[in-house]
Formats: sequence, structure tokens, C-alpha cells
Amino acid sequence: MARLRIDQVSKQFGATWAVREVSLDIADGEFMVLLGPSGCGKSTLLRLIAGLDDPTSGRILLGDTDITDQAPQRRDLAMVFQSYALYPHLTVAKNIGFPLRARRTPRAQIAERVSAVAATLGLAELLGRKPAALSGGQRQRVALARAMVRDPGAFLMDEPLSNLDAKLRSATRAELISLHRGLGATFLYVTHDQVEAMTMADRIALLNDGRLEQLGTPTELYDRPRSTFVAGFLGAPPMNLFPAVVTRREDRLYLVADGIDAELAITAADFGDDIDVVAGIRPEQLRPDPADPTVRGRVTMVENLGSEELIHFSTGAHTLCARAPRPAGVRAEESIGLRVDPAHLHLFHPESGLRLTWQEPQRDSVAA
Ligand SMILES: Nc1ncnc2c1ncn2[C@@H]1O[C@H](COP(=O)(O)OP(=O)(O)OP(=O)(O)O)[C@@H](O)[C@H]1O
Ligand SMILES: [Mg+2]
Repeated sequence: MARLRIDQVSKQFGATWAVREVSLDIADGEFMVLLGPSGCGKSTLLRLIAGLDDPTSGRILLGDTDITDQAPQRRDLAMVFQSYALYPHLTVAKNIGFPLRARRTPRAQIAERVSAVAATLGLAELLGRKPAALSGGQRQRVALARAMVRDPGAFLMDEPLSNLDAKLRSATRAELISLHRGLGATFLYVTHDQVEAMTMADRIALLNDGRLEQLGTPTELYDRPRSTFVAGFLGAPPMNLFPAVVTRREDRLYLVADGIDAELAITAADFGDDIDVVAGIRPEQLRPDPADPTVRGRVTMVENLGSEELIHFSTGAHTLCARAPRPAGVRAEESIGLRVDPAHLHLFHPESGLRLTWQEPQRDSVAA
């Protein structure tokens, strides 16, 4: 097992910069998730680490070894792809044992490893079958087993659950989490599924257009997004983001926008008047409070999610969303009053989209 370091790695394809100066230091035994929208460079970065593509610049280190120029098969890494590429003419047992045969491991040792890994992943009954006779989920697990049969320095996984249905996906996700705990191995795991990222990651590296947008624990990214991009990417439904003004009244500061007048939990002696910001409020932080509202609007639609409701409402210029336990007791066309705890108001710069950090001067940004 080993620490994996990516140092200022970039990759250019023609005129496209798929990865731009990304640095990551993944600790021995860490579960790091690479998250981001389609085309942001996740697979490219993984392929660079695996050695399937060469970086345009930058270095990759596994443990203390610089592997940037090492042939892929010499890198002590196991990779699981989205499309699991099993050998169709080989049995499950032969597929799983393949990496060991390629390394000329003694036959008895291969058999022992294969049956141990197959037992862990619930494949013991299927060892004699060919891939064509397996379900999608079973094939996916065979691909995982093939990666696990060795004891690699690190696992690289590119959306390994994307072909599974919802139920199997959540079961396999749980299996992977316990696998990681059991092996104590270093994982770099690509997904664009934020539920996978939030539940599996020790830390998330969120990529945006080839750049590292924010690096931190799931909680840090969710609670203190570094930018409107992160704020809008994590959370379902995502954070409400809307233009607003920070206004001073006497020595207190208020967030003011159409239908909104909320005191902020900051006192800034050197803060100017009437500063334009982009304000952010998570839907679950908007609580119906008819008696003492700071946010007022008209309900446009109520969505029933079973245990909760999504209340869409208009404040005039903007449409916001609140998430509340069901029944929230409001209907379309009604007026609604809500409250938000000042600690849950996020402020961003209107042009750069970056979090305004004078909010919490005592805590340093977790951004990379
Ligand atoms: N071999 C290639 N030649 C040219 N451009 C490429 C190549 N591979 C990737 N790209 C481009 O690099 C960018 C990043 O692609 P990449 O496959 O890494 O994205 P991704 O984050 O994995 O997306 P997805 O979530 O859709 O899998 C995209 O703009 C893509 O079109
Ligand atoms: Mg990809």
C-alpha cells in the first residue's frame, strides 16, 4: 500500500486542456474521490496515473518512486474501468487470476488467492462460468475481484458502479466501503455521482474544466463550498444561489434581496455599505416560520418526496426551493414565510464566484 502523489500534472489533447496543473497528495490507505461534471478530466487524470496516457507536464509518484515514465504494467496499481473488459473466453476464475498468471505466480498460490477474493465478493459459486452467463452486477464484481487479486499499491477505479441498477449499486457501494476498510488500501475513485462521493470519500477532489476546484472532506465541501460552482454541484436539490446586497444598519449587517431581509452572523468594522454578493442558502436550511419570517414568497409548486416536501416559491425576481418534513402545510399560490439561521447563509463574490472568506476570518479556507 502506498501514498500517491500527483504533482502539477497537465494533459493537453490538441487545443483542449483536459487536465490543468492538478496536484493531489493521497495518503496511504485514503479513499479519495475524484468528482466533477462530464468532461472535467476525471478519466484522463486516472489514465495518466495508470500510465495509459502520458502527461504533457508534471510528475506522478507512488510511494517514493517516480512512476511518470514507467510502463503501465510495471506500475504497482490496479485499475477498474467503467466498462469492465473481461476476457469472454475465460472462466470467472481465470479472469480473476489473470493478473497473477501474467506475473508468473505459482499455480497453487493463484488458486488460493482467487478463492479468497471470490468469497469476499460473493462470487464463489460462479467461478466456473464464462462472463456471458453473468449479470451486469456479477461481471462488475468479477472486474473488481481481478483488481483485488493482487495486493497493489493503490486502486484506481473509474465509475465502477455506473452499469448497475440502483439497488445493486447501493449494495456494491457498501461492499466497496467495507472492502476499503478491510484492505486498508489507497483508493482513487472516479464518479460524477455525488451520493457515492459523499458516502465513500475520506476526501473529495472536485474538478471543474480540468482544474482542481476544491479539495476537502465531504462535510467541508458541503458546508463551506469554496465557490458557487461547488455550492451548485453538491446537494440535491442544489443550493439556492441568487444576487443580493449586504447592507449595514447601525452596526449590524443584513442580507437583502427581493423578499429577503436576514441578519448576517458577521460584524465587519471595515465593511463598506451596499456590497453586491451572490447569496447561497441550502434548501434544507429554509424553514417555514410564518410567525417571524426573514424570507417571503409565493408558493409555485410543492413536490412530494415521500418523507419530505420540496417547496418551490417565488420571491419576485427569483425562484427558490425549500426542503421540509412532510406535510409542510402549504399549497401552490399561498404566501409563505421562512427563516434561515444566519450561520447557514453563504456569500460569494458576484464576479469570481469565490466564497467571501471575511465571513469566517478565524477559519482558513480548505481550498487547495
Ligand atoms: N484522447 C482524447 N483526445 C482528445 N480529447 C480528449 C481525449 N480524451 C479526453 N479528451 C477530452 O478531454 C476532456 C476530459 O475528458 P475526460 O474523459 O477526462 O472527462 P471525464 O471527467 O471523465 O467525463 P465523464 O464524466 O463524461 O466520463 C474532454 O473535453 C474530452 O473531450
Ligand atoms: Mg470519464
